[in-house]
Amino acid sequence: MCGIMGCVGKCDVREVILNGLAKQEYRGYDSAGVALREEDGFRNIKLVGRVAELRRLVEESAAKESTASEKNGGRTLSGIGHTRWATHGGVTVTNAHPHESSDGQIALVHNGIIENAREIRARLETEGIVFVTETDTESPCQQLAWLYKEHGDALRAMTELCNSITGMYTLVILFRDRPGEIWCARRLAPLVAAHADGVSYCASDPTALLEYTHDLFFLEDGEMAQLTADGCRFFGFDGKERKKAPIRLQWDSAMAEKGRYEHFMRKEIDEQPNVTRLTIDAHTVVTSVGMEKDLKLPEGFMRGIRRVRFIACGTSYYAALAACNLMESFDNTLDVRAEIASEYRFRNTAEGNDTLAVFVSQSGETADTLAAARLSQSKGTRCIAITNVRGSTLDREIEHTLRTLAGPEIGVAATKTFTAQLCLLDLLVLQLLKYRGTLSAGDEARLIGGLRVVPAQQQALLEREAEIEALAEKYADSKGFFFIGRRESVPLTLEGALKLKEIAYLPSEAYAAGEMKHGPIAMLDEKLTVVALVPHDDLREKMLSSVQECRARKAPIILLAAEGDEEAREFCNDIFFIPKTERELFPLVGVVPLQLFAYHTAKTLGHGIDMPRNLAKSVTVE
Ligand code: F6R
Repeated sequence: MCGIMGCVGKCDVREVILNGLAKQEYRGYDSAGVALREEDGFRNIKLVGRVAELRRLVEESAAKESTASEKNGGRTLSGIGHTRWATHGGVTVTNAHPHESSDGQIALVHNGIIENAREIRARLETEGIVFVTETDTESPCQQLAWLYKEHGDALRAMTELCNSITGMYTLVILFRDRPGEIWCARRLAPLVAAHADGVSYCASDPTALLEYTHDLFFLEDGEMAQLTADGCRFFGFDGKERKKAPIRLQWDSAMAEKGRYEHFMRKEIDEQPNVTRLTIDAHTVVTSVGMEKDLKLPEGFMRGIRRVRFIACGTSYYAALAACNLMESFDNTLDVRAEIASEYRFRNTAEGNDTLAVFVSQSGETADTLAAARLSQSKGTRCIAITNVRGSTLDREIEHTLRTLAGPEIGVAATKTFTAQLCLLDLLVLQLLKYRGTLSAGDEARLIGGLRVVPAQQQALLEREAEIEALAEKYADSKGFFFIGRRESVPLTLEGALKLKEIAYLPSEAYAAGEMKHGPIAMLDEKLTVVALVPHDDLREKMLSSVQECRARKAPIILLAAEGDEEAREFCNDIFFIPKTERELFPLVGVVPLQLFAYHTAKTLGHGIDMPRNLAKSVTVE
C-alpha cells in the first residue's frame, strides 16, 4: 500500500518522480505529493487527488519560475514522491506525504505502519516539537530531524532512527542540507533501488524503474541505502556498509503500458491465453514419450510429507483452493487444505518437517502471506513460494520459488496472475502427485493434454466478449448477485463475486450450491441475480436442481454451461456456453467470462475499474 518514488542525479528529476508515481498509483490513490530539493530548498507540493492532478499543480508551480532550465526541472537536484493509501489519519492534504520536520531539515515519505509512533510523538512533544498531522509517519520524520541535529551525521541518524522505530516501513528521505542525496530504509515493506547513467532511483515497485534500467537492487529487511548521482551504497541497520549485487528483471517496460486498451484490467484479461501458454511452456518439456513437467524441485521433496497447505490471501487464496481440490481428487491419503494467510498465521496449526506449505502471492509482498511463510519456516515446514515478482520478499525469503510468468499486473483486480497461478499450481500438484505415485500415467497425459488446449479455449471466450457485455448491461441494475457452483467451480464462484465487489461495488456472494437452501435462498427475489456455473461433469444434475430451486424463488438466472448443453437453456433466463474442458481444469477457462462480466458491469455503471475505491494492489499492511 502506498507507492514511493525517489530520484537523484543528472536528469529531469521532477518528471522521473511524477512518472514513477503514475506507474505506482495502483498501490494507493487517496492523496499524492512530491518534495523536490531545489537549489534554494524544498518545494513540497501535495493534494487529495490523483497523480494527474498533482502533475498539473507541480507544472503550474514550475511555470511561475523564471528561467527555462527551472521550468524543465533543471534546477531540481533530488526528489521524493508518494501516492497514499491512508492508514493512520484521514485523507487530507495535511496528512498527505511527503511530511516535513518542524525545523525544515527532513522531508520524508513512508509506506507501512510505525507501531510506536504515539510513544515517539509523546516524547518529542515534551521536547517542544509541534506535530501537525494525524499520521504515524510524522513521528519518524520529526525523530530523524532530532537525531540529525544531535549527530550531524546522516548515516548515524538513520541508523538510530531505524533502531528506534518499530512496525513495518519503507522510508525515503531528503535532508535539506544534503541536496545530492536520498536516504531510504526498509523493514517488512518493499523497496527497490537502481543506478544508471548518472542517476539513482528508488521505488516501491520495480515497474516504476524499468524504463531506466533492468538491473535492480532489492533491499532486504533491515537495510538502508544512500543514493547519489554516483551510485547506491547499502548499509545494515547496524550502520555497516554491505555489498549488494543487482538482480536483472526481464520485464519489458511496455508490458506496464495500457497500449490500445481503455483499462489495464481489460488488457490483462486479454493477455491470459499467452500467459497460460508461457507458463505451460516454461514448466513442461517435450520428451520422446510425450510431455513431462519440469518444475526443478528436488525428487525427495515429497518424501515423508503427511500434510499439504496452500496459503494465500484474496484471489490468490481462490487459486489455492483450486489447487487443493485438484490434489485431493487424486490423493485422499494426504491431509490437504487451503488456508487464508491472515488467519493461518494466528492459529496453532500442526506443521513441521512432515508438512509442505505452498505460499501463493502475485506481488510477493502481501504482509499476511509473508508472516505466515515466516512462521512456517520457523517451524521447519518445507516451503514453496509461487509469485509473479522476481526479487519480491517472498521470492527471496523462500528457497524454492516458482514464478508465474504473467508480466506486470497493473489493474488492481487480479486477472492474468490468477490464471497463471491456477496453471502453475496445476503443474505443481501434478508433479507432487507423481512423486507420491498417486497419479496414473493416463491421468497425467490427459491433464497435460487438457492444459495444452486451455489457451485456445480462453481465446475463443475472449472473442465472444460482446455476448458477455450484453449480459452485463442487462443485469447491471440487479440489487446483487449470487454465484453458485460445486467442487471445481466453488473457487470460481468466489472469484466471480470478488471481482464484482471490487470493481462494480455490487453486493455479490458466492455459495457452494448445496448451501443455498441452508439460509441464503431466503434472500432471493426477482432483483437478485444468480450466476450458476454448470460445467459438463458428474455434478451437472445436482447443479441444475440447485438452479431450479433458485428459479422457483423468481431469481433471474444466468447459466454458464458447457458447450452443447442445449437442454440447460430451459433452466435459465440467459445462457453462456463455455468450451468443454477436462473436469479438473474448468477454473482456468471458466474464469474468463466471470472477469469480463465484472469488467463490463463496472463499465456500464460508470466506475473507474483500474483503481477501485479503498483498495490497493499490494497489501503490505496487516
Ligand atoms: C483481488 C486481488 C486481491 C489479491 C490479494 C493477495 O483482485 O487482487 O484479493 O489477490 O490482495 O495479493 P497477492 O497475490 O499479491 O498476495
